[in-house]
Amino acid sequence: MESIAPSFATPTPGPRGGSPQAPAPAERIEYTTTRSIEVRREVLRRQRLIAGYPPGPYVDAYKVLRTKVLQILRERGWNALAVTSPNPQAGKTVAAINLALSLALDVSQTVLLVDANLRHPSVHTAFGFTPQYGLSDYLLDDVPIERLLINPKGIGRFVVLPGHRPLPDASELLASPKMARLVDELKHRYPSRIVVFDLPHLTTADALAFAPHVDAALLVLEAGRTTHAELEEALAHLNTTPLLGTLLNKAEPGPGS
Ligand SMILES: Nc1ncnc2c1ncn2[C@@H]1O[C@H](COP(=O)(O)OP(=O)(O)OP(=O)(O)O)[C@@H](O)[C@H]1O
Ligand SMILES: [Mg+2]
Repeated sequence: MESIAPSFATPTPGPRGGSPQAPAPAERIEYTTTRSIEVRREVLRRQRLIAGYPPGPYVDAYKVLRTKVLQILRERGWNALAVTSPNPQAGKTVAAINLALSLALDVSQTVLLVDANLRHPSVHTAFGFTPQYGLSDYLLDDVPIERLLINPKGIGRFVVLPGHRPLPDASELLASPKMARLVDELKHRYPSRIVVFDLPHLTTADALAFAPHVDAALLVLEAGRTTHAELEEALAHLNTTPLLGTLLNKAEPGPGS
């Protein structure tokens, strides 16, 4: 087990107001085979995605997280990370999307966000679209990856590989050599690409089966809910997968913070 990296905190998003965050500047990637979909600002906002927020503490928290994550990835030569948590509903999907979005706002990175929660795929729901195909279709029916990829319009350097039909028992698929080959391909196809995987929580067989494929894992802890015992258990479950850090989610900002 690697030593524990610094922990990060993201506040509960504040009240509505202000104009939405501007899309990424200048340099744009042309996704020739990647399907573009419209995303509605109010959906992004409702789903707590930073692309729907004006500048402020919520967006800033993810910028701080991005800076620290990028520093560790560069130091270690890593580019594939999983977002998981000790307990369900901690905010992994929201955190994984926001981390991926904030990384994509860094001009030197392209980001691929993979919905690897095959039991309850929900990245597409957060963006408000229904995918035709998803990771399950690649794993079960060999649908080519190019047909799965989606670029939410207006968000440069950012591509989603969504989930699709839920697979209740997917741990064998996630642990399979086919999945390992896919992760390897996604990691190496483009230079300067970071791949973020949204996983289920760590006491599921699915998360345990998948974790060894990635370079490191970010653990999302839920303020007021995740216990020390659950954190200890999650760290033990991570086993040989290095811990990138912990993110305290849903933290209420204290006085002066
Ligand atoms: N910072 C936050 N403040 C308040 N609510 C939040 C925050 N982050 C996430 N949530 C809410 O918590 C709920 C769970 O979020 P999310 O789906 O991201 O969790 P999850 O850990 O991915 O869940 P699952 O274990 O089902 O995959 C959602 O309703 C989401 O909008
Ligand atoms: Mg989730």
